Amino acid sequence: MNPSRRNFLKKSAIAVSALGATSVIPSKVWSSEIAASDKINVALIGCRNMGFGILKHHLDTGMVNCLALCDVDKNVLKEKYKLVKKDYNQSPELFADYRKVLERKNIDAVIIGTPDHWHCLIMVEASQAGKDVYVEKPMSNTIGECNIMVKAANKYNRVVQVGQQQRDNKVFLDAMQLIKSGEIGTLRKVNIWANFNYGLGSTPKPDGKVPNGVDYDFWLGPAPKRPFNPNRFHGSWRHYWDYGGGLMSDWGVHLLDMGIWAGDLVEAPKKVITYAANLSKKEMQRETFDTMNVVFPKDNYVINWDMTAGIQQGPFDSSYGVQFIGENGTLVADRHKYHLYPEWDNDKKAPKVEAISFEKGRESHRQHVDNFLECIKSREKTSCPPEVGRAAALHAHIPNIAARVGADILEWDDKNNQFTNCDKANELITPVYRAPWKLPEL
Ligand SMILES: NC(=O)c1ccc[n+]([C@@H]2O[C@H](COP(=O)([O-])OP(=O)(O)OC[C@H]3O[C@@H](n4cnc5c(N)ncnc54)[C@H](O)[C@@H]3O)[C@@H](O)[C@H]2O)c1
Repeated sequence: MNPSRRNFLKKSAIAVSALGATSVIPSKVWSSEIAASDKINVALIGCRNMGFGILKHHLDTGMVNCLALCDVDKNVLKEKYKLVKKDYNQSPELFADYRKVLERKNIDAVIIGTPDHWHCLIMVEASQAGKDVYVEKPMSNTIGECNIMVKAANKYNRVVQVGQQQRDNKVFLDAMQLIKSGEIGTLRKVNIWANFNYGLGSTPKPDGKVPNGVDYDFWLGPAPKRPFNPNRFHGSWRHYWDYGGGLMSDWGVHLLDMGIWAGDLVEAPKKVITYAANLSKKEMQRETFDTMNVVFPKDNYVINWDMTAGIQQGPFDSSYGVQFIGENGTLVADRHKYHLYPEWDNDKKAPKVEAISFEKGRESHRQHVDNFLECIKSREKTSCPPEVGRAAALHAHIPNIAARVGADILEWDDKNNQFTNCDKANELITPVYRAPWKLPEL
């Protein structure tokens, strides 16, 4: 990269980071009692895969004590405890019931790494208990739960980081600087694609016995009661509506967030045009769709979502990515690289902008965790606060609702929290919780 380009990126980095630091929130936890140099005490709820990865990023900072691990699967608890002990020489207390974790006064923050259908209840109760929260994405499994979580964070003055780590990824931070400084010209379109084999679900398996050590009723929690099936459980739950939203929400929140961020829109979509189908002939077990194309018209540009499960190839040699199309150039980005492709100026017989390439990007969970920990101490808003998590989640939930009720076009009235053109869609806004679990009321 040439020096003038480097200076441009540096200058705009300062401008963008200044924008991020808003709204100082008072804290009960980090008030006068605890020095800024003190370690932060965290608990992990939902330990198997991503939650544990995020806990490790916390521990790697050297700024964190892990006081508790909580999981409804004793096998997971045992395995993760051993790793925390071996790799970090820490001995967290083990829990099966997150409510007991929240009773512990010395825990400052919780990481929620459960499946999506649990995020809302645990996040709200953690907020009520005065904990700060790192909640994995999508912020929750429904629109109604997202609304409640935004309210909870504000009502209880909590620092909340939603696990959309691309908000702290260098590639996308640079991309946003290039877009917002006008380098690619007026933004016209954001084309997003996500093609992943795993989106097809799993090979069919019959219902079976609950594995030893698993409290399956607790795993289901507020979701409807069903016989145990290994495909509706660890890892592959994401292909069933009761717990997740398939590839549309799994990758959708990460990538659609980039399309929303490009226009600085922290808002729900007003109108969504959806095509959804199951076109793969492979016999797989899932409820979610394998093929979805969705158009999100914005006031000044349009976002296109193009998703194909069971296919791993995509444009620009990448199975997923974001193409920001501006009048002076098109910027194509994924988590590891970006390229700016200039438009040609026919009068000047020259490219309208300089071509740029960057190819050394990395996953950014660690940076996202660093931001969370800094915000716990400073009480500033995180890089992905609940309002941003909600906006991204609604861009995934609304097309999924459209697909489920067969509505090609859905119009959303965010002020009144309803679809204005489809009664059937309104029935899917808020879930009915299975007793004894109750949807939080705030
Ligand atoms: N940010 C990212 O890039 C990223 C990547 C993968 C997954 N995720 C998100 O992380 C979350 C977890 O996904 P995963 O792939 O790790 O799922 P997983 O099924 O591998 O792990 C979930 C764990 O939560 C436990 N659990 C379920 N209910 C619980 C409860 N009430 N209390 C305590 N533990 C409970 C399960 O037993 C399991 O150990 C999801 O929200 C997912 O969307 C984010």
